[in-house]
Amino acid sequence: METTQSGALDVERIREDFPILQRRVGDDVQVVYLDNAATTQTPEQVIDVFGDYYRGYNANVHRGIHHLSQEASIAYEEAHDRMAEFIGASGGREEMVFTKNTTESINLVAYAWGLNELGSGDRVVLTEMEHHASLVTWQQIAKRTGADVEYIRVDDDGRLDMDHAAELIDEDTEMVSAVHVSNTLGTVNPVADLAELAHDAGAYIFVDGAQAVPTRPVDVEAIDADFYAFSGHKMAGPTGIGGLYGKKEILEDMEPFLYGGDMITKVTYEDATWNELPWKYEAGTPLIAEGIAMAEAADYLDELGMDNIRTHEEQLAEYAYDRLSEFDDIEIYGPEPGPDRGGLVSFNLDSVHAHDLASIMNDSAVAIRAGDHCTQPLHDKLGVAASARASFYVYNTREEIDVLVDAIDDARELFS
Ligand SMILES: Cc1ncc(COP(=O)(O)O)c(C=O)c1O
Repeated sequence: METTQSGALDVERIREDFPILQRRVGDDVQVVYLDNAATTQTPEQVIDVFGDYYRGYNANVHRGIHHLSQEASIAYEEAHDRMAEFIGASGGREEMVFTKNTTESINLVAYAWGLNELGSGDRVVLTEMEHHASLVTWQQIAKRTGADVEYIRVDDDGRLDMDHAAELIDEDTEMVSAVHVSNTLGTVNPVADLAELAHDAGAYIFVDGAQAVPTRPVDVEAIDADFYAFSGHKMAGPTGIGGLYGKKEILEDMEPFLYGGDMITKVTYEDATWNELPWKYEAGTPLIAEGIAMAEAADYLDELGMDNIRTHEEQLAEYAYDRLSEFDDIEIYGPEPGPDRGGLVSFNLDSVHAHDLASIMNDSAVAIRAGDHCTQPLHDKLGVAASARASFYVYNTREEIDVLVDAIDDARELFS
């Protein structure tokens, strides 16, 4: 497939780093991978780091005094510093807990902080565009503690109603949890403004950065986030690893989430004391190779330049939005292209169910997602059960979006 340069990134060269993009499926057709909001592909550089670990220094961390364990420990611990730096946390490893993914990062705070701190009359404020990872978690913790959950309205343009946010975030509010970039609407939310509202009310803010960290420069200190979560597999890293940033003083105060080995300092038959940060929150043998490889993914993305990645994403989103807007029978969700729209487009084609559409796309080897994208209440609000979603990353091209549009034509013909 021919590729263009976006101006921001040398896409043709970048594609050479991703062997999977050469995969041919079905009738020997090259895959067009447009499902990046679900999981991004992994470059050779990251795969190599993973392999190097198992070939060269596989050992358990923190526990051994032998060479291999020391090497593994240093690499694993330094990976925390690297990820802290990647999202602008000046506290280094003490403010960077490795988890399984964004979902686990949210659950960690919901259990360790929420179960202990929330009570009847307290309020947790979410947005109507939360992913289930945040929505279901806070909903259930609220049920267990007697707290109320309120949702900041999404307006007809797919943006947060900030007047409504200001109304909802009051002195009863203890936690505001907001998605940074919506995985369904593509909206880039004003999380720094939400943080200010939260702090003025004496509440904490948790930011779900699953779609933001891979696609734009993130600075948790500029946002003034109390907590910030992300997943390695959405940022060119491996599956099974993610991160939770937390302000040091809050992480110091909070109870642990999981108990066991490695997270303790002193244990007696009666009691235990907790290890220093961040190990207090990493019970048991952690995801060592995954953590080290995630830090390599951060290096890879920084090499491309996070500003360039954001520009590339915005350009592809605008191109896809414009191409899909040519058709009266396509409804697109989320804001118009611009700085507050990330690199994904969710849409529906009249009278064709999103699953059928994705299935026809698959015949042309175009990989998109169909469903509710873990935002069922938002889809209910939009009045649809499902939508199709094309999402872009550093290796995607305009030509691939043209293939997508041609495949939509095929679907239109088939169902007309
Ligand atoms: C906005 C958002 N939050 C949370 C998640 C959950 O991520 P994970 O499955 O890696 O925990 C996703 C994944 O799609 C997401 O897009």
